[in-house]
Amino acid sequence: MTDSITIRRPDDWHLHLRDGAMLQAVLPETARHFGRAIIMPNLVPPVVTGAHAAAYRERIMAALPEGMTFEPLMTLYLTEDTDPEDLAAAHASGLVKAVKLYPAGATTNSHSGVRNFDNVRPVLEKMAEIGLPLCVHGEVTDAEIDIFDREAVFIDRVLDPIRQATPGLRVVMEHITTRDGVQYVAADETDLGATITAHHLIINRNHILVGGIKPHYYCLPVAKREEHRLELLKAATSGDARYFLGTDSAPHTDDNKEMACGCAGCFTATNTMSLVAEMFDRESALDKLEGFVSLNGPGFYGLPVNESSITLTKGDPVEYPSKIESGDGPVTVFDPGFPLHWRVV
Ligand code: DOR
Ligand code: ZN
Repeated sequence: MTDSITIRRPDDWHLHLRDGAMLQAVLPETARHFGRAIIMPNLVPPVVTGAHAAAYRERIMAALPEGMTFEPLMTLYLTEDTDPEDLAAAHASGLVKAVKLYPAGATTNSHSGVRNFDNVRPVLEKMAEIGLPLCVHGEVTDAEIDIFDREAVFIDRVLDPIRQATPGLRVVMEHITTRDGVQYVAADETDLGATITAHHLIINRNHILVGGIKPHYYCLPVAKREEHRLELLKAATSGDARYFLGTDSAPHTDDNKEMACGCAGCFTATNTMSLVAEMFDRESALDKLEGFVSLNGPGFYGLPVNESSITLTKGDPVEYPSKIESGDGPVTVFDPGFPLHWRVV
């Protein structure tokens, strides 16, 4: 039985760090284990220009506790007013590593997102030309489309047409939640990758609703049927380099989650590595863990893998705090509902 594993230091290819007091509270939770992370730009107001991204990067570095090393990989929030030249300059300087597409209204702070995809065509063409990846929140927002179908419909109606019209555009389908997402990625040889969260490997839609409503399991895209979770687990543990970890760790204070209209987001930064290792162990796929968390992401982004390594050991269940404190209020740490035996030592 394997009870110790050493892997390259992992990265998180989709992370919400927020700003101010919340940034201060959550950044160490990620930096403790992860070398780098793709930083989501859905602040209020959003990070839309190279200048915004540079300033946000400085705030992140200023919030990093002494003695910790961490590299934030900055992104820009795509709007219908994004200037292709500003974006190209931010990429050329090495500051910006991806651009984030939120369909307007799809999720938290997405109202500045894209309504008419024709209006971002010049930006997408520029990105294809310079090799800057597009990170996609893949859900349609049409009121008549059932929330559980929004990812599948997005692939057909939005993503595939964009990709057909923009050859060479590199796309990350973020936080895929369905067999449709897994299969769409599997069908492409070159320009498509997908992130998978720790929580979507663990929960299905029943966890949110059976036995009482669980606001801390509510996120977007919402967890789907069990058959979809099993496909995600199969993809993550397959060793296929097109799938990599993007936690979508998304902190909201408890008062914003536990209310009549609660915010979407699971906060997993604190225990991600234990969650993922537990799931890979259950699948007898610990030999694929390093690929999923440490190698496939840099491969897609054309970045070197981290030089340093981490070791995880298996033993008695690990105790994590149920909440972390932030200056804005407590934030509940994702509870998988079963013991976690793997810890980063
Ligand atoms: O659950 C989510 N929370 N999904 C998103 O797409 C956004 C995120 C957030 O920013 O809270
Ligand atoms: Zn997100």
